[in-house]
Amino acid sequence: MASTLTIKDLHVEIEGKEILKGVNLEIKGGEIHAVMGPNGTGKSTLSAAIMGHPKYEVTQGTITLDGEDVLEMDVDERARAGLFLAMQYPSEITGVTNAEFLRSSINARREEGQEISLMKFIREMDSKMELLEMDPDMAQRYLNEGFSGGEKKRNEILQLLMLEPKIAILDEIDSGLDIDALKVVSKGINEMRSNDFGCLIITHYQRLLNYITPDHVHVMMQGRVVKSGGPELAQRLEAEGYDWIKTELGIEDETVGQEA
Ligand SMILES: Nc1ncnc2c1ncn2[C@@H]1O[C@H](COP(=O)(O)OP(=O)(O)OP(=O)(O)O)[C@@H](O)[C@H]1O
Ligand SMILES: [Mg+2]
Repeated sequence: MASTLTIKDLHVEIEGKEILKGVNLEIKGGEIHAVMGPNGTGKSTLSAAIMGHPKYEVTQGTITLDGEDVLEMDVDERARAGLFLAMQYPSEITGVTNAEFLRSSINARREEGQEISLMKFIREMDSKMELLEMDPDMAQRYLNEGFSGGEKKRNEILQLLMLEPKIAILDEIDSGLDIDALKVVSKGINEMRSNDFGCLIITHYQRLLNYITPDHVHVMMQGRVVKSGGPELAQRLEAEGYDWIKTELGIEDETVGQEA
């Protein structure tokens, strides 16, 4: 069944400072949304708030997944409900291999007694790694330890393909990727496309959107979504930058920082 993630009037504070100032967004299964916007406008904060980072305090507004209150859920419950976040800066975890991490993550989302068999897990991991053109050795390396920037991003997509979430948020999944890696990562994301999968892609570059056509494009400034449109909006941003939006909306400083 197609899921819907609904974000209404979301306000988020970090250490007493308001970063998000009323975000509204709805992502449905089958849809790909791109969120763009200058640096420091709250994009990663939005992704962290959706996933439940403890430092980010929601002071107003709601997030629901198919009507269920996401804000009431712990991080692991959010993952079990079908939410997934590929982080802008994935953490390195020494002592836990990539394969162990993936298998535990899959099993954590399943009922007791319904764990994935080792054979099935290995078969699936091998085929997804092949699709992503990853070196098989990556499975036995410690999670993200010493991975190059591009390898980390590819590995986030491996997790996406293995976990099959209902709604995924991909924060700058394209940053630091060379052209070939960009194509591979896009192939992985396109592989997920179905009515049971909704995706929010945070990116600075139209380039990624040449490979993954978004249904909706949103621009964030000052901790809000200030403009939404179709793929043509991303093309205009690539050609003209953000100044025209600032002029149109009378925004002087687009960041969340200095605004009164
Ligand atoms: N943990 C934190 N402590 C203090 N300030 C924070 C924290 N996290 C985010 N901020 C501030 O919130 C603002 C928005 O940050 P955020 O990471 O959401 O921006 P962004 O839109 O993702 O930017 P970029 O495009 O550079 O990734 C910035 O001014 C940032 O310094
Ligand atoms: Mg960010």
